[in-house]
Amino acid sequence: MNIKINHLSYTYPSNQPFKEDALSDINASIKSNDFVAIIGQTGSGKSTLIQNLNGLLIPTTGQVEIEDYIIKKKVKLKNIKQLRKKIGIVFQFPEYQLFEENVEKDILFGPKNFGFNEKQLAGLAKKVLEEVGLDETFLKKSPFELSGGEKRRVAIAGILAFDPEVLIVDEPTAGLDPQTANKIMELFYNLYKKQHKTIILVTHQMEDVLKYANHVMALKNGKLEAYTTPFRLFNDEKLMSHLQIEMPLILKIAKETKKKYPDLDLSKVKDIDSFVMQLKDVI
Ligand SMILES: Nc1ncnc2c1ncn2[C@@H]1O[C@H](COP(=O)(O)OP(=O)(O)OP(=O)(O)O)[C@@H](O)[C@H]1O
Ligand SMILES: [Mg+2]
Repeated sequence: MNIKINHLSYTYPSNQPFKEDALSDINASIKSNDFVAIIGQTGSGKSTLIQNLNGLLIPTTGQVEIEDYIIKKKVKLKNIKQLRKKIGIVFQFPEYQLFEENVEKDILFGPKNFGFNEKQLAGLAKKVLEEVGLDETFLKKSPFELSGGEKRRVAIAGILAFDPEVLIVDEPTAGLDPQTANKIMELFYNLYKKQHKTIILVTHQMEDVLKYANHVMALKNGKLEAYTTPFRLFNDEKLMSHLQIEMPLILKIAKETKKKYPDLDLSKVKDIDSFVMQLKDVI
């Protein structure tokens, strides 16, 4: 599913006479089976942007095209349910997403709503819970008695359960311990690699951008300042300083190392393991 964003601006309704756009004139397209990271400082418009991609928010001006769907003001969105089945969003604040009396019901809410039959539902909640690293004892727990990280994982499981083509995740690893965060990122990466899903990841973790994403959108004050590859972004010092973002540590180390070993291919450095492999090739 290709997503085309055309001249999208979004202003939150408010009573103030001078309202600032949360997003202004965004143009971009996201191809099927891409892994796109959306970055930018807090308040730059990341969460607003993704909510415009499945009709949760409607652009104030401009439009979003997804296959036959056109999300645009004053145009009634047909088959919105089908669109929501195709594009699953895990919100930044998972508590907004959980409302059933127990975890199992919560996870199965989406699949039931999208018409899964009994056979498809059987064992599904347990399976997706395991994928996010929670065991079946969680099935009967109330979502409200879970820790922040557990809630986040249940919210992710609830989206995995209906198997959307596009998975949009808004800071999915915020508040998770490093090991669980890794597991969740690997899970998304596998969905992209093995099941050819499209992944859109909102994140402040530049290490994840480097390691997993093919493309990166950088927002600043509601404007799309760059849409490029992580490699190009992290090698553009002017842009980085304009966006006020820091290069991943491993890339800094690799750049320093390259001064001594010029054959080191920085474009292949994605994390510590790939750095070590590169290093072995050149020393
Ligand atoms: N419900 C709302 N009503 C009014 N203004 C809002 C609302 N939600 C967000 N905003 C404003 O829109 C702008 C963009 O917010 P958004 O939540 O999209 O930023 P973000 O990049 O996701 O930030 P963060 O990294 O903190 O999650 C901000 O100026 C914010 O104050
Ligand atoms: Mg946000």
